[in-house]
Amino acid sequence: MQRDPAALKAALADLEQRDLKRTRRVMPRADLVNFCSNDYLGLSTHPEVVRAFVAAAEKYGVGSGASHLVTGHGIEHEALEAELAAFTGRERALVYSTGYMANLGVIGALVDQKSVLVSDKLNHASLIDGCRLARADSLRFAHGDVAHAAERLAGADGATKLVITDGVFSMDGDLAPLPGLARAARDANAWLVVDDAHALGVVGARGRGSCEHFGLDQDDVPVLVGTFGKGFGTFGAFVAGSADLIELLIQTSRTYIYTTALPPAVAAATRAALRVSEAESWRREKALTLARKVHRALRLPGECVSAIVPVIVGDSAQALRASRELEARGLLVAAIRPPTVPDGTARLRITLSAAHEESQVDTLIEALGELRG
Ligand SMILES: Cc1ncc(COP(=O)(O)O)c(C=O)c1O
Repeated sequence: MQRDPAALKAALADLEQRDLKRTRRVMPRADLVNFCSNDYLGLSTHPEVVRAFVAAAEKYGVGSGASHLVTGHGIEHEALEAELAAFTGRERALVYSTGYMANLGVIGALVDQKSVLVSDKLNHASLIDGCRLARADSLRFAHGDVAHAAERLAGADGATKLVITDGVFSMDGDLAPLPGLARAARDANAWLVVDDAHALGVVGARGRGSCEHFGLDQDDVPVLVGTFGKGFGTFGAFVAGSADLIELLIQTSRTYIYTTALPPAVAAATRAALRVSEAESWRREKALTLARKVHRALRLPGECVSAIVPVIVGDSAQALRASRELEARGLLVAAIRPPTVPDGTARLRITLSAAHEESQVDTLIEALGELRG
């Protein structure tokens, strides 16, 4: 873009004209029931989590003061990593400052220029950007299509191969076919990288995510990414895997090394959230039960396996209109439009949480029913 005020104005006008201009809402809004947060278990305001945050901030201060390899790594990070390793059944875990950085960092650490990256077409933007930044050969396979992934791998003669997928897809709420992908990756001697941001805390008998759901271990899924800003209600992320994988990330992962460590109070709050998510399993059950209720009431296709219920509208203008009409009724449901989702698949992305009341969900179902006419 030219350095020209008119060019900026034209770019913004173009977004507006295509119904793709985004606006930020200043939250919280007491007049709206939020159906688009990723706080699936309602832990962001849980008293134990808040108390842990405040106590750690009083003890250690607000910021970590440096990157992990300088002096930013503290006992809260160290303890959280050990607990995450136990929670995920991995040898070791490493805390990153955000999920976006974890994905960039783990892909970047594993690839070289001769590598081949094989990714699900609907992967989260941070995985896509991780592939772009890696400057290796990047191939896509059709969403959830194991045979296509295997085909891509067969055609790839790169030295290092990665199969990369979301565990639960952020905009669709469906599960990746992990057992098939694990088999295909093993057969091709490829790393399988699973970003389980939307499954951890929610999916699996004990909330341990898609790997638990499918009964897969570290050998099947050697690289597991998780985030804290969703089911755990805090902020930050981690990568879990073998002790050597984690050591390699500490030594070489640029988004781990060259950034300020997560504030220790956030690590302490996340430890509390992990404990609460396990102790209060009703939270996971409630979020899933409410999601299934919405899915059933709207007669949506497929199976409801997560707390995310997408209602595909198609056209961006129509999705925006529906979102505005819901907002007028006190219901906050964001319209998700391209480029976050593929062209022609704009949608209302409804998320359910343990913090919702049943009556609020009934109101939403009724409003959506009327909207669809
Ligand atoms: C699947 C997935 N991975 C990674 C991220 C990024 O995580 P973070 O918000 O911690 O950067 C998100 C969303 O934020 C996501 O939906």
